Amino acid sequence: MIVDVKVCMGTECSMMGNLNLYEYLEELQEDQPGKINLESVVCLKSCKEEPKISPVVSINGKIRSSRRIDQVISEIIQLIEKDEVENSNEVNKA
Ligand code: FES
Repeated sequence: MIVDVKVCMGTECSMMGNLNLYEYLEELQEDQPGKINLESVVCLKSCKEEPKISPVVSINGKIRSSRRIDQVISEIIQLIEKDEVENSNEVNKA
């Protein structure tokens, strides 16, 4: 499974730190070839909602606050590792 990551680059989110997040995720994508589908998007519409959680990122369709870059990266790595464990279990069953 490829982890689908959409980083909001709308005005609010990019000013609040998502430019840095995108750079970190580009590096992570290079370190994990074929595991992450990284995109930048214009606005995930969370900036219009209360309570404010911007800046935001979408991870496999779930909106997350990206105020803590370390937590975003940790969640993505956990999804990659979980997928690797599940794939190795399926290989062992065969
Ligand atoms: S600018 Fe990021 S959700 Fe709107």
